[in-house]
Amino acid sequence: TNNDSRVIRAELLSFDADPGEGDNPAEGSVRHYTDGALWLENGRIKAIDDYATLAPRLPEGIETVDHRGKLVMPGFIDSHVHYVQLEIMASYGRQLLDWLNDYTFPEECRFAQYEHALALSNAFLDEMLRVGTTTAQVFCSSHPDSADAFFTASSKRNLRMLAGKVLMDRNAPEALCDDTLGGIRDTERLIADWHGTRRLGYSLTPRFAPTSTREQLDATGGLLRNDPSLWLQTHLSENTGELDWVAELFPDSHDYLHVYEQSGLVGPRSTFAHGIHLDQDMRRRLAERGANLAFCPSSNLFLGSGLFDRLAAREVGLDITYASDVGGGTDLSGLATLKAAYQVGQLRGQPLTAWQGLYGLTLGNAKALSLDDKIGRLAPDLEADFVVLDPEATPLLARRHARCRTLGERLFALMMLGDDRSILETWAGGKCQHRREQA
Ligand code: GUN
Ligand code: ZN
Repeated sequence: TNNDSRVIRAELLSFDADPGEGDNPAEGSVRHYTDGALWLENGRIKAIDDYATLAPRLPEGIETVDHRGKLVMPGFIDSHVHYVQLEIMASYGRQLLDWLNDYTFPEECRFAQYEHALALSNAFLDEMLRVGTTTAQVFCSSHPDSADAFFTASSKRNLRMLAGKVLMDRNAPEALCDDTLGGIRDTERLIADWHGTRRLGYSLTPRFAPTSTREQLDATGGLLRNDPSLWLQTHLSENTGELDWVAELFPDSHDYLHVYEQSGLVGPRSTFAHGIHLDQDMRRRLAERGANLAFCPSSNLFLGSGLFDRLAAREVGLDITYASDVGGGTDLSGLATLKAAYQVGQLRGQPLTAWQGLYGLTLGNAKALSLDDKIGRLAPDLEADFVVLDPEATPLLARRHARCRTLGERLFALMMLGDDRSILETWAGGKCQHRREQA
């Protein structure tokens, strides 16, 4: 038998397709084993089945991890987060533009130092694993060293991560602004060093329209055209003050999205964070290009940005991803993001089922980020990134759990009440990389 082979025995839950908006999941969308077996080999999933069915096929003497009573799901994915803002979470800043100037920009200046960036990268990854997140699309700062540090830390842990150095050549403190084309050259060097290395991918990262010149946005579009395997991440229509500023800075663009379209930044691997203040035509244009909108509910509530219209996006077939947007967001946890998404949905008359939320956090995010051939499901040949949830992590959760009759009820209670204590273990690349210390 292979040294790096083991089987996890637990309740298993994974999505094979979008469960839809109904109270019950669409037929064939949910894969669930009450007493399941997940067979791992060389960092990948070799097989998944009922334990009783798989057991006779297992090699003699294979290590079995007995997690009966626990729930195993694919590792959570965060489609938009700023690692450089970890230490300014929950800084009272009213709304977006003040918050950027008062807290965010000064904080990001500290990442000019490689040693600081590496320490914070490791602290950030520790926190991600503590909450069950195994993949994220990450903003670094504008300093190339901040991206080198993040990729180095992610590579050491063999994590699947997307990240990029922020491009910003105006309207920010001088210490944060890059040179218009110097920022592009630094980006090209980072792509050469990291894109496709181990489990890492490069995401082109123009911060948002107000902090890049047209020349820099055009050059970014040029990089994307030359290599369609690159990702792209930016912000779009988060805050009404931001909208007015963009209209002023780009008088030749007929709306905010048009600024990005004119530079060739809207494609199937583009993630636009927030997208709150959009009309249906803009949503349709995003959908036609296969882009996705990152729904950042805890951030949108914290910065008072607005209530994301999830169903308007769905109506035109526009992909939604779920994101913490830390440091604008108040919680790194995917479960906390879903709880906030549910609350936003309630205020919009668009409640979020646990099926839809947990699908979004796993396969939905993986699909929208074009990573579903590698992660997002418990399925043969996919990478062994998964989370072991303890449905009875606290006395209160155990009480609530005991009262649940259906899987749907249990998942909803977990989505609303679960937190980092619910994450017993986080596995990435076939290795247990986090185990909660028992109280
Ligand atoms: N828009 C431009 N930069 C940022 C940022 O760092 N956070 C948020 N939430 N919005 C932004
Ligand atoms: Zn953001």
